[in-house]
Amino acid sequence: MKIIVTKNYDEMSKEAGKIFIDRIKNNPEIILGLATGSTPIGMYKELIKAYENKEIDFSRVRSFNLDEYVGLDENDETSYRYFMNDNLFNHININRENINIPNGKAKDLNAFCKEYDEKLEKAGGIDIQLLGIGEDGHIAFNEPGDFLNVGTNITALTDSTIEVNSRFFNSIDEVPTTAITLGMGGILKSKEIVLLANGEKKAEVIKELLTQDKVTTSLPVSFLLVHPNVTIIVDEEAYSGIAKC
Ligand code: F6R
Repeated sequence: MKIIVTKNYDEMSKEAGKIFIDRIKNNPEIILGLATGSTPIGMYKELIKAYENKEIDFSRVRSFNLDEYVGLDENDETSYRYFMNDNLFNHININRENINIPNGKAKDLNAFCKEYDEKLEKAGGIDIQLLGIGEDGHIAFNEPGDFLNVGTNITALTDSTIEVNSRFFNSIDEVPTTAITLGMGGILKSKEIVLLANGEKKAEVIKELLTQDKVTTSLPVSFLLVHPNVTIIVDEEAYSGIAKC
């Protein structure tokens, strides 16, 4: 596991941007695993800049997003599809047919999960997966618990996640309580993983991840410890728990 500590959020975004730009240049048909949330916004800006400067081309790139709230569609400003359009896809030349995001409005959600995994497997799996991290240690919406799902699944969000994510909604009551998420299998089968974390709020969970030598379902992100190609890029605030050790 490679750890890069940056001064601040902007530098974290630039470092992550450099990695993704390099991989896209080297493989124009790359399959990107993409995340939403506050963390990757700066890195998406780096990708847009590189596209505008004609450094990279997305016309043959394919993408699979990690998750989506159940019940929301792309017209809903709080849906993850809306987020992706707004923060990345509307600004680059990715072919809409190459974008895959779980469908929170699917009639048969379980059948959708199965199809999502089949499509990902048929595509050959994710070449490089971008991840943020929840304060409770979740990755995608694989929440701490007695077990973790391997395949794409419907999951109940924890109270902690609902509270943290309520900042994007008018009130906490509007936050969906369930989501579709890629399972741990889809994530861990990625050839390369880049996890980003910034800000003091992530210091405790980053400390837990980097100081305990064990894998546990109570800290889903700990499964990255056994993956052979993970880079963690954290700003000084998110790293501050370790710096104090
Ligand atoms: C989003 C996702 C989540 C977020 C995590 C951190 O697609 O899968 O796991 O990465 O909740 O969110 P932010 O970046 O808002 O702190």
